[in-house]
Amino acid sequence: MGKLKIGVIGAGSISQYHLGGYAAHQDTEIYAVCDLNQERAEQKAKEFGASKVFTDYHELLALPEIDAVSICTWNNSHAEISIAALEAGKHVLVEKPLCKTVDDALRVEEAVRKSGKILQVGFVRRYAENTQILKKFIDASDLGEIYYAKASCLRRLGNPGGWFADVERSGGGPLIDLGVHVIDICWYLMGKPKVVSVTGNTYNRLGNRSNVEHLSFYQAADYDSSKNSVEDMANALIRFENGASLMVDVSFTLHAKQDELSVKLYGDKGGAELEPELSIVTEKHNTILNFEPQIDNSTFNFIGAFNNEVATFAESILGTKTTLSPVEDGVEMMKILCAIYESAETGKEITFK
Ligand SMILES: NC(=O)c1ccc[n+]([C@@H]2O[C@H](COP(=O)([O-])OP(=O)(O)OC[C@H]3O[C@@H](n4cnc5c(N)ncnc54)[C@H](O)[C@@H]3O)[C@@H](O)[C@H]2O)c1
Repeated sequence: MGKLKIGVIGAGSISQYHLGGYAAHQDTEIYAVCDLNQERAEQKAKEFGASKVFTDYHELLALPEIDAVSICTWNNSHAEISIAALEAGKHVLVEKPLCKTVDDALRVEEAVRKSGKILQVGFVRRYAENTQILKKFIDASDLGEIYYAKASCLRRLGNPGGWFADVERSGGGPLIDLGVHVIDICWYLMGKPKVVSVTGNTYNRLGNRSNVEHLSFYQAADYDSSKNSVEDMANALIRFENGASLMVDVSFTLHAKQDELSVKLYGDKGGAELEPELSIVTEKHNTILNFEPQIDNSTFNFIGAFNNEVATFAESILGTKTTLSPVEDGVEMMKILCAIYESAETGKEITFK
């Protein structure tokens, strides 16, 4: 069998890491690139040796020789392009979040079921080396039962502008963009317990603070600060059927002294911090021990995690691996994220049956 032929749809910032992952994998060939912006698509195709360039993803999907696609577009097109790709018989790696609404998530799940193809959601933190190391300790019961987790992803200045700040195209602000990563990684490491209730708050008090000078921050490929219809900050408390709970806070901007990224898990036999640096806490012979694993990447390694995510996708198609982030996990995450927004809007706790 020849190499898997890959199409990449959306050629902005994150596509670079998908393309890099496919370029590094022995069983994949980057065949086509598509972006609404032709110049951008051409530039990526040239850099990675793709022979075909499109501005309309339907044309890319019509190529029978393409086996699989990466979808790296704005969030509002993830569901539509995923369904079209599955119906065209392609395997799909779709960036997070899976989509914008629970209804769309269920439609994508149904399309996966009907097509029999693989859909992997881009929960890239699951594929990071520090996550996989911690997972081994958790699977061996070294932390016991995890009953509490806490995650923060706070940017003091970092509304990326453009489509990220347009609720129609993004579905929301830091909660759907950053919260999706940290909520998912906690939920995954907690053993994916069933969610029973969610309570959350969102704030839109500071705007995008495009007035701030002398401090640089991440910006979308088409940065534009004139529109901002998303929250600046969100927090939530999520309860699970097994009694465990997860507390999270995220921001695009906040009067914080510094940025913060932390992911912490607490069990009845031990605890762990995944970010900012992997460490494991336990008790032995009446003494508390903090372990510092001696590893190359004790924090999230961007390129390594993306290469591993892409490799797992390709090898799942080839049948030698199983994806770590199937469509049903994307659906669960949409239920949680949408419930947080609903709770914030109504001022009430949202419960699930
Ligand atoms: N996994 C991660 O850590 C991570 C990090 C950043 C972004 N993302 C996700 O990746 C996706 C893209 O984000 P980005 O930072 O690359 O944004 P970006 O603005 O840099 O690039 C998005 C590109 O998609 C193109 N596009 C939009 N709709 C399209 C369509 N229908 N057909 C073809 N092209 C289309 C745009 O023209 C643009 O070039 C988002 O879903 C985002 O949430 C994930």
